[in-house]
Amino acid sequence: MTDIALTVNGRGISGSAEPRTHLADFLRDTLNLTGTHLRCEQGVCGACTVLIDGAPARSCINYAVACQGAEVTTIEGFEADEVMARLRAAFHQEHALQCGFCTPGMLVTARDIVLRLPDADAARVKVELAGNLCRCTGYAGIVRAVCRVLEERKGAVPAPQGRLGPVGARKAAGAGIQAVAAVAKVAQASTPTTADLGLGGRPPNLETSLAFTVRRPLAEVWAVLDDIPRVARCMPGAVLAAPPVDGHVEGRVSVKVGPIATNFSGAARIIRNDPEKRGILYGAGRDGLSGSTARAEITYGLSPAGDDAIRIEISLRALLAGPLAQFGRSQIVQDLLARLAGEFARRLEYTLEHGEADSSPPETAFRPWALVTAVIAEKFRSLFRKAR
Ligand code: FES
Ligand code: FES
Repeated sequence: MTDIALTVNGRGISGSAEPRTHLADFLRDTLNLTGTHLRCEQGVCGACTVLIDGAPARSCINYAVACQGAEVTTIEGFEADEVMARLRAAFHQEHALQCGFCTPGMLVTARDIVLRLPDADAARVKVELAGNLCRCTGYAGIVRAVCRVLEERKGAVPAPQGRLGPVGARKAAGAGIQAVAAVAKVAQASTPTTADLGLGGRPPNLETSLAFTVRRPLAEVWAVLDDIPRVARCMPGAVLAAPPVDGHVEGRVSVKVGPIATNFSGAARIIRNDPEKRGILYGAGRDGLSGSTARAEITYGLSPAGDDAIRIEISLRALLAGPLAQFGRSQIVQDLLARLAGEFARRLEYTLEHGEADSSPPETAFRPWALVTAVIAEKFRSLFRKAR
């Protein structure tokens, strides 16, 4: 057991928890705050959403001990909150709940939308609520309720913003603010420097790597990797904003997978080591839909693999901050990332095989739902294997 001290609903709490105990269990079992509901317990459904240091967070994928020193607000802590009072009334008026299981998480997310996006329309509210699942209402009433409160508050003095995430201890929140500030700097700067991009020494929260071989001459493969527009066409959802200049690239990456939609705009700088046939891409971007930020470093290298084959090794290390980071620890997302990387490898192999720029595979070849289905099917297969 590990001793922890944190603030919950304005009260200082000291206690102890197993390192593996997640925050939701700690809140429910130790503090008896059962308004925080648990359903998927893997960061997908949003039923367990609470505020950690002022930012909505999944309490099922945050360890209690990682919240040392944090300020946590559960649904029970909004009794005197004016916005929450309006939302509760609007949920009632718009029939925005049936069984009520998802409602605490929905309300915490809805309050964040009302305070953070006072000009949001129904379409934006739907996007923002995409991380909270409800199996009863069909969502229409929930969206109407949030829009109703937004409408009522038009012209209201904007509420002071709480501290930014990411979720977890105060230390982590500070790192998140730095990350957001640095990415904002990248967005403003016309020519970001390498120092603005990449992880900047921060530990990643997403990692994947892949390796494959192709039967093409080393020099030819290296030349293709230097053709940035061609490589960009191999990346699912990627579009360059302009032709690259001196290894500096700007563009966007859009991926929509069920309720998760992202549209990251950003910049990257690629540094190549020609004699060693290795390179590194430093990137940073911001998702215009969720406000999440991402910083990444992608390293790649070529080496002979015998019989005229070339081995291509690629590894990705990324740091996701903001609402999307709440999905980052889900094994499904990690698996999905690995499959996206595999799709990139498949397209790269294709373009190496078929040569010219216009020979990249058709866009329809990227089917995210097929990837998700494959990931889930593999999970079931592995569960059955374990059960047997
Ligand atoms: S219980 Fe589903 S996100 Fe936490
Ligand atoms: S009201 Fe039943 S799950 Fe949302």
